[in-house]
Amino acid sequence: MREYKIAVIEGDGIGPEIIREAIKVLDKVGEKEGFKLNYSHYLLGGVAVDKTGDPCPPETIEGALNSDAVLFGAIGGPKWDTLPKEKRPETGLLKIRKELGLFANLRPAVVFDQFVDASPLKPEVVKGVDLLVVRELTGGIYFGQPRGREENQAFNTMRYTREEIERIAHIAFKEAQKRRKKVTSIDKANVLEVSQFWREIVEEVAKNYPDVELEHMYVDNGAMQLVRNPRQFDVILTGNIFGDILSDEASMIVGSIGLLPSASIGGKVGLFEPIHGSAPDIAGKGIANPIATILSAGMMLGYLGEVEGERRIKRAVEKVLAEGHRTPDLGGNLTTQEMGDLIAKAVEEV
Ligand code: NAD
Ligand code: IPM
Ligand code: MN
Repeated sequence: MREYKIAVIEGDGIGPEIIREAIKVLDKVGEKEGFKLNYSHYLLGGVAVDKTGDPCPPETIEGALNSDAVLFGAIGGPKWDTLPKEKRPETGLLKIRKELGLFANLRPAVVFDQFVDASPLKPEVVKGVDLLVVRELTGGIYFGQPRGREENQAFNTMRYTREEIERIAHIAFKEAQKRRKKVTSIDKANVLEVSQFWREIVEEVAKNYPDVELEHMYVDNGAMQLVRNPRQFDVILTGNIFGDILSDEASMIVGSIGLLPSASIGGKVGLFEPIHGSAPDIAGKGIANPIATILSAGMMLGYLGEVEGERRIKRAVEKVLAEGHRTPDLGGNLTTQEMGDLIAKAVEEV
C-alpha cells in the first residue's frame, strides 16, 4: 500500500472544524484509491502562542520538513491581534512559508456549469471561468527590508530580486503551458519602481515560452477586469500583496471565499491551505464551508502523485454542489460536518 506522512496544522478559529472534514474526505479517498495517509499534528498561530509562546515553534518546521506534505487550516483572531509582531499568528504563518521555501502560491478559481447561480455576479459573466492566480509568496512588501516604526511614521519596503521574479514567472508560464497558454502579469508599473523591474524580468522569462501569450495589466484595472470579464484570464502572475487581494476578490466570482483552495510550493514539501482565514466571526458555530480545505487536500493528493484521488475529490465536490447542497455562506443551511459527510459519501460514488 502507498503510504504518505502528512503534517496537519489545524490552527485557530474555524481551522480545526474544516481540517476535520478534509481528513474525513481524504481517508475515504485513500480507501477507494488504495493509499494510506499517516497524520501528525503540529501547532501554528494563536494556539501555538498560547501553548508555547512561539507562533511557529521549531517542532512545527521540523515536523513539516519530515513529512511528504502539509495540510493547513487557518490562523489568527482578535485574541492575538494586540500582541507584539513576533508573537502574532500571522508572523508564524509567514515564517513557515519562508522556512519551507514556499515561494509559489497557486490559487485556482473555477466556476463549473451547474454552479453559476452561486456567484453574486451574473451567470453570463461567470460561466466558464477557469483561472489560476500564481502569487509570489515569500517576498515583496511582506518581507522587504527595511521595515519599521519611528515616533511619527512607519514603513515597509516592496522589494523583489531578479531571482525571486524569475522563479515565480517560470512557474506561471509552466502552469499556462498546461492550460490555455496565456499569462497576465499584474503589477503597478505605472508608479512603482519594483513593478517596472518585475515587468522587465517577466518579459525576459517569457522568451523561454514562445507558445504562451503574455500580457501586462495594472493592478487597479486588473481588479476591475476580474469582475467585468473574468473569462479573459487564464494564469494571473502577480506579487505577494496583489495576489493576496486579487485572490480574495476572485473567490466571489465562484461564489464564496469558502470555496477557494491553494497550494504553496517551491520548497522541499508543499503546504496546502484554503485561501481564507480563521473566520473568527463564525468560529465554533459549525457552519464554516469546508470545501476550500477539502479541495486543498485534493491539490495535496495531486502533489503526492495521487492524481486520481485529486480528481475524485473534485468530482465529489462538484456532485454535491450540483445537487444544490449549500452551507450558509452560499445561502444554504448545512453545517460544516454535514457538508463534509456529503462529500465523503460522494467520494465513493463518483
Ligand atoms: P477571513 O477569511 O477569516 O474571513 C472573512 C469573511 O469570510 C468572514 O466573514 C468569514 O466568516 C468568511 N469566511 C471565511 N472563510 C469561510 C468559510 N470557510 N466558510 C464560510 N465563511 C467563511 O478573513 P478576516 O476576517 O479578514 O481575518 C480573520 C483572521 O484570519 C485574521 O486574524 C487574519 O489575519 C487571519 N487570516 C489567516 C489566513 C490564513 O491562515 N491563511 C488567511 C486570511 C486571514
Ligand atoms: C492569506 C492570508 C495571509 C497572507 C496572512 C494571514 C498573513 O491573508 O494566506 O491569504 O496575507 O498571506
Ligand atoms: Mn489573504
